[in-house]
Order: sequence, then structure tokens, then C-alpha cells
Amino acid sequence: MEFSLFISAIALVLSQHLLLTSASQTQKTADHFVRCLYKNSPNSLNRISNVVYTPQNVAFNSTLQAYIKNGRFNRTTTPKPVAIVAAKRYYQVQAAVVCSRLTGIEIKIRSGGHDYEGSSYVSNRPFFVLDLFNMRKVKVDVGKEVAWVQSGAILGELYYHVTKKSNNTLAFPGGVCSTVGVGGHITGGGYGTLMRKYGLTVDNILDAKVVDAKGRILTRATMGEDLFWAIRGGGAASFGVVLEWKLHLVRVPPTVTVFAVTRTVEGGVTNVIDQWQRVAPKMDPSLFIRAEAQATKNGTLGVTFYALYLGRQQQLLTLVNSTFPLLGLNSKDCVEMTWARSIFFWIAGSPKDYVKKPIPKKGWEAIWKKMIQAGPRVKMQYNAYGGRMSEIAVDATPFPHREGNLFLMQYITEWREISLDTEDKYIRATRELHDVFTPYVSAKPREAFLNYKDIDIGTNTNGHLGFAHEYFKGNLERLLRVKAKVDPKNLFRNQQSIPLKRF
Ligand SMILES: Cc1cc2nc3c(=O)[nH]c(=O)nc-3n(C[C@H](O)[C@H](O)[C@H](O)COP(=O)(O)OP(=O)(O)OC[C@H]3O[C@@H](n4cnc5c(N)ncnc54)[C@H](O)[C@@H]3O)c2cc1C
Ligand SMILES: *[C@@H]1O[C@H](CO)[C@@H](O)[C@H](O)[C@H]1NC(C)=O
Ligand SMILES: *[C@@H]1O[C@H](CO)[C@@H](O)[C@H](O)[C@H]1NC(C)=O
Ligand SMILES: *[C@@H]1O[C@H](CO)[C@@H](O)[C@H](O)[C@H]1NC(C)=O
Ligand SMILES: *[C@@H]1O[C@H](CO)[C@@H](O)[C@H](O)[C@H]1NC(C)=O
Repeated sequence: MEFSLFISAIALVLSQHLLLTSASQTQKTADHFVRCLYKNSPNSLNRISNVVYTPQNVAFNSTLQAYIKNGRFNRTTTPKPVAIVAAKRYYQVQAAVVCSRLTGIEIKIRSGGHDYEGSSYVSNRPFFVLDLFNMRKVKVDVGKEVAWVQSGAILGELYYHVTKKSNNTLAFPGGVCSTVGVGGHITGGGYGTLMRKYGLTVDNILDAKVVDAKGRILTRATMGEDLFWAIRGGGAASFGVVLEWKLHLVRVPPTVTVFAVTRTVEGGVTNVIDQWQRVAPKMDPSLFIRAEAQATKNGTLGVTFYALYLGRQQQLLTLVNSTFPLLGLNSKDCVEMTWARSIFFWIAGSPKDYVKKPIPKKGWEAIWKKMIQAGPRVKMQYNAYGGRMSEIAVDATPFPHREGNLFLMQYITEWREISLDTEDKYIRATRELHDVFTPYVSAKPREAFLNYKDIDIGTNTNGHLGFAHEYFKGNLERLLRVKAKVDPKNLFRNQQSIPLKRF
């Protein structure tokens, strides 16, 4: 114990030292790293140079910014990598991992760059970005109902190939924001509108190719079930680089139905949402309904119910009429389309919470009041769980939020003005709203979702684990064991990676 404290004190001094070094020192670090890459990329001396960008390169800034999806980490003051390795070949990924180990320069793995805390392209220590945007192939086998997809693909590309190749009969149960990266999304336990029918992305993974801390390429058969379990929801950024995933594709009807219906406070939305929260988690798993609340400019508030139904309009109307009559759904609210088309219908933000018991009507009224005060920039999204989600064991994957959860709730704040003042203002408004919800959401520990990463719930500094209990609950112990086994030098780390613990 004393020994490890001592080591981390030295590491701190070292990293402070590196941070304060001059530009020429940074240049030396970068050179050292690039030389290492050359040395460790056999018979490809000139080819690796095509995929490495250093700050001297004219395309460095634009390459870095291309997959920065959060303006908060797009500033001149945001720490910058010593290099970007935009690997095209798997041996280049292996070389990058080996050189991170040999040089001590931290590796940040980036697929789609949608991380809420920028952890795929920002660090307080010297780091490089292993950028996967050149690795985005999708191979679909319609007969076997499987696909292999490389991590650098985005969800939109994956859905395009799957639905096109299968003539709109197959899909994958991932998120609806088409620019989110397959790599980060799947490994964080991604969910989408097919969740109630088919579970999460991680419930539909058959195999994976991973580069481990030693630089080896492993598959399910060679990595073993522990590591294969950990990367399906535990965040592969703690364990290795996922090169590709083998997906089990799911069946969808050629025609699905969507609707978006808004009800206001004056129109009795409290009663509507009260009925919704009681029935939505128990409804037919073919129906997914999301409720999104937002204040309007004229000082009131509306809740929009967005739905995807895996079937035709007529059946949907009958179903909603009988189970959720207060919505007053009308046939002209409904639109039939293909599942692929329905992706464009959804818009996708960020503390989040899980709700296990319906919120009382008085609670909703307090929430509406706070939201109207905060104004239209602050949104709340409630996603109904239940269905397939409740059938999967809590320890089947690291994602623990299964049976007993009614909803996942997300707080979204959008702002365009680029100033620290406005940023503070909106972050404060979001936090205040979060406080209003406290009595109604899961407690001890408050539960959180890795894909909605939130540094506010804590970091792993000094081995703290509070944040990890929120993400993984009872599954944390197994993740700690896998980490100690596969990455004993803690090569793959960030502020909320699984820390090393000795067993
Ligand atoms: C607009 C928007 C909409 C969203 N909608 C949804 C949604 O509907 N459902 C949902 O579940 N989530 C949603 N999210 C959250 C999203 O799934 C996560 O932010 C996800 O981690 C993003 O993946 P990425 O590859 O784009 O991000 P990145 O920033 O590239 O990566 C995220 C994390 O994963 C690590 N990582 C990335 N690739 C690899 C790899 N190949 N190997 C190992 N580690 C890797 C990174 O190092 C980082 O820690 C949304 C986010 C945004 C911004
Ligand atoms: C980041 O900055 C660049 C250049 O200023 C800009 O083109 C890009 O749109 C910005 N991205 C985000 C997400 O703010
Ligand atoms: C890249 O961005 C940095 C700030 O992060 C700036 O100092 C530098 O001049 C930019 N380089 C180019 C080529 O635009
Ligand atoms: C407020 O605006 C919404 C649209 O944003 C509208 O539907 C509603 O009728 C308006 N309410 C009042 C009281 O003006
Ligand atoms: C739904 O109920 C309303 C009235 O309660 C009725 O007018 C309508 O025909 C019903 N629609 C369906 C499809 O059952």
C-alpha cells in the first residue's frame, strides 16, 4: 500500500514535469514516439509515415478536430496529443500499443469521438490518439444473420449496410444517432429503440478482435470469456483496442410505424406522463416510447412522446388505445416507413439517472416548474425499459441496469454561445434539475451509464471506485479481476478506467 502510494507520488511529479516542459521537449517526446513506431512496424517504414500526424503536419489540427464532437474540448487550451496515429492496418494498431508501453506516452483510443468527457482524445499527461476512422469496413452475411464491423465505422454506416444487404429485414439494436462510433458505443453498452425487443448492443455480440496490452491480436477463443465479457459494457478503453466486432443481427418487419405527439402542461400532460410511466415498461416489447420534456419559449412546457413500433399503424393504434389511452393517439400522428428510415426520425446529449418507481404527480409538477425556470435549452429524456431488458441477468454483461428499472433518464443541455460564462450557466441549470430529481431516482449507489460518461460522479485518482460502483454495481469485482489479469501495468487508462487492484 505504502509502496503504491510512493509510486503514484513519483508518477505525479513526472507528469507535472512533462506538462510544464517547453515546446522543444514536446517535440522530442513526439520524435521518440514516432521513431518507436517506425522501429515496430516491420517492412512498412514508409507506410506508417502515411498514417502518423504530428503538430508540424498541416493536416494535424483538422484531423484532430474531425472527430472532436464536444465543443468543450475543442479549445486552444485543451491539451493536445503529441501525435495522431490514424491506423489503416492492424499491425499499425499493434505498433501503437507497443510504443505506448515502451515510451510511456498514454494511448487514447478514438472511434467516433462522441465521448461526453473527451476521454478518447484528451488527457492531462502526454498522450497520442490512436484514431480508427480509417478502419470502418462492414461485412454482412444475411443468411447467417451476422455482420463483422470495424470499430471506426459509425452507426449510420453500419445500419446502411445491414438494411441494404438484407432488404430491410435485418437490423442491429444500437443507438439512433448515426454519427456515434461503433467502437465506443458498443463497448459502453449502447442502447437504442430496439432495446425492449432485443436488449442492448452488448447482448448481441458474438465475437471480437482485440489488441491487448502486449500488442497481440486476440479473438473470443484466444482472449477467453473474462475479457470478452469485460469489453461488452465495461469499456474496452480499460483493457485493449477493439479492432472489430461480430454482431448478431436481429429481425425487423419491412414496415414499422413511428409517431411524435406533444402534450402540454395546460393539456394535462402530468396525467399523461403518469399513465405512461406506469404502462410503458410493461408494454409489448415491439413498442418503444420515449418521453422528452422541454420548456417552451412562451413559459410553458411540453412533453413529446416519440415511438417506434415494429409493426403496422393499425395494430399500433389498437395497442396504444387499449394500454395508454390518455395519450389520445390518432392515426394521423402515425407514419409507416422502413426501420432504416426510422433512424432519421429520432433525434438524439448530461447527467442520467435510473427510475425504479413511478414519480408521483406532485413530483412531476415540481420538475415542470424547475424546467420552465431553466428555459428551453434544458431537456429531459425518459426511455422506457422492460421487455427483453428485464429478462437478461444482471451479470450477463458488465451493464447492471436490468430488471427493476423503469426508465433511463437523461438531462440534455444544448448551448451554442461559446463562452465559459454561458457554459457555467447551463451546466448549473442542469445540475439543479438533477437535484430536483434526487428523491425519485435510484440511490445508494445512484446508478449511472458508462456511455453517458460523467466526471462529476468521481474519478479513479488514488484508486477511488465510487464512480465505478455507479456504472457497474455488483459487476465491478469481476472487472477489477479482469483488469489486473490483462493489463497489469495499467497501460489502458483514463480518469474513469477500471483501476488496478491487487488480488
Ligand atoms: C449525440 C449523441 C447521441 C447519443 N446517443 C446514444 C444512444 O442513443 N444510445 C447510447 O447508448 N449512447 C448514445 N450516446 C453515447 C455514445 O454511445 C457514447 O458516447 C459512445 O461512447 C460514443 O462512442 P464513440 O466511438 O463515438 O466515442 P469515442 O469518443 O471515440 O469513444 C468513447 C470511449 O470508448 C473508447 N473507445 C472507442 N473506441 C474504442 C475501441 N475501438 N477500443 C477500445 N476503446 C475504445 C474511447 O477511448 C472512449 O473512452 C450518444 C452520444 C451523443 C454525443
Ligand atoms: C472545432 O473547431 C473547429 C475549428 O475552429 C471547427 O471547425 C469545428 O466545427 C469545431 N468543432 C466543435 C464540435 O465545436
Ligand atoms: C493548430 O492549432 C494550434 C492551437 O491549438 C495553433 O497554435 C496552430 O497554429 C494551428 N496550426 C495550424 C497549421 O493551423
Ligand atoms: C406556447 O407555444 C407552444 C409551441 O411552442 C404552443 O403549442 C402553445 O399553444 C403556446 N401556449 C401559449 C399559452 O401560448
Ligand atoms: C381508439 O379509441 C378511440 C376512442 O376511444 C376511437 O375513436 C378509435 O376508433 C380507436 N382506434 C382504434 C384503432 O382502436
